Amino acid sequence: MTRDISEYKQQFTENLKEIKADKGHLLHDDVERLRVAWLGRKGILPELFSQLKTVAREDKASMGKELNLLKVFCEQQIKELQERARQQQIRHLLSHSSIDVTLPVADQHRVGSLHPVSLINHKLQSIFRRLGYHVFDGPEVEVDYYNFRALNIHENHPARDMQDTFYLKDRLSDETKDATNATKWVMRTQTSNVQIHVMENFRPPFTVVAPGKVFRVDSDPTHTPIFHQIEGLHVDKNVSLADLKGTIQVFLSELLGYHVAMRLRPSYFPFVEPGLEIDIALPSKEDEQLSWLEVGGCGMVHPHVFEMVGVDSEEYMGFAFGFGIDRLAMIHFNLHDLRHFFSGDVQWLSQFPSFLGTPGSGLSSVCHRN
Ligand code: PHE
Repeated sequence: MTRDISEYKQQFTENLKEIKADKGHLLHDDVERLRVAWLGRKGILPELFSQLKTVAREDKASMGKELNLLKVFCEQQIKELQERARQQQIRHLLSHSSIDVTLPVADQHRVGSLHPVSLINHKLQSIFRRLGYHVFDGPEVEVDYYNFRALNIHENHPARDMQDTFYLKDRLSDETKDATNATKWVMRTQTSNVQIHVMENFRPPFTVVAPGKVFRVDSDPTHTPIFHQIEGLHVDKNVSLADLKGTIQVFLSELLGYHVAMRLRPSYFPFVEPGLEIDIALPSKEDEQLSWLEVGGCGMVHPHVFEMVGVDSEEYMGFAFGFGIDRLAMIHFNLHDLRHFFSGDVQWLSQFPSFLGTPGSGLSSVCHRN
């Protein structure tokens, strides 16, 4: 041992003083540095303990005792400082936070607000219920078969690329393997999986919507790895593309509260034929011209999909559609950055109402039924 233990104690006490004197700084990092220097694995104290080996036999016991006392002293002092740092950090956070907890509550009866996606989701459900649709739920963790193969998207189908997903490690029990002959579990990339569950479990006609979360490996200001869709499926003996168009026109107009100008553009989804994309007209900011924004996909159910679920495609026909709920919420509330949706910022969220009420125009203004 090169120095007297009391010298080490003095050195430690000086280090302590330096930290305590530096009032302008947040203590936390300094305290941690001190702890590592003295008590850390390669710190001064472990080093001193390791040197005990080399001390003369007769001095070992007293030296060991002294060292232990020093260690306890250092630990106590550091613990005290850590507590002070914690208090200081809390005070710092409080003084830099914009929430003044001492302010009186403005409106004692104010109810909370709902997330824009929930608001639009609720409103969509209420519109579709009045159009005669049943609301269904479906699994978010899904067998590859329901998310892809039953929808005509085979193992090497290029459409898988556009919906690259999160695959789950093999969690198949033998039971599931037998039932579906599936080899993979995925986070569903689309709510279209619910089409298959519904058609497998019920007999036609079907008139259902299924809202829910979907997952894709995608992330930028207008795409997030989690988003929301609402799926629709209507199957009966005499269903046409005109019914599909009319339904979309009605629900979009109901949702946004005015007669929406929309167009259907030919597109490709393996589980519908023909397949279409739905655009709605929005006034563009720059030149006061209308611009088209894609809000969903749709089409007539592919006969092969019917065959896979055991629905007679000679007897039945139907349409399916899928809309992005987040996108509809952005249009409805005139929002531009999807990332806010997932920030959990209470101030941003509180600008939304707690419910959207019933649509003002009423169905009769857009859809005349006897
Ligand atoms: N599932 C498709 C998608 O996520 C949308 C869609 C649904 C298209 C139903 C056609 C019919 O892109």
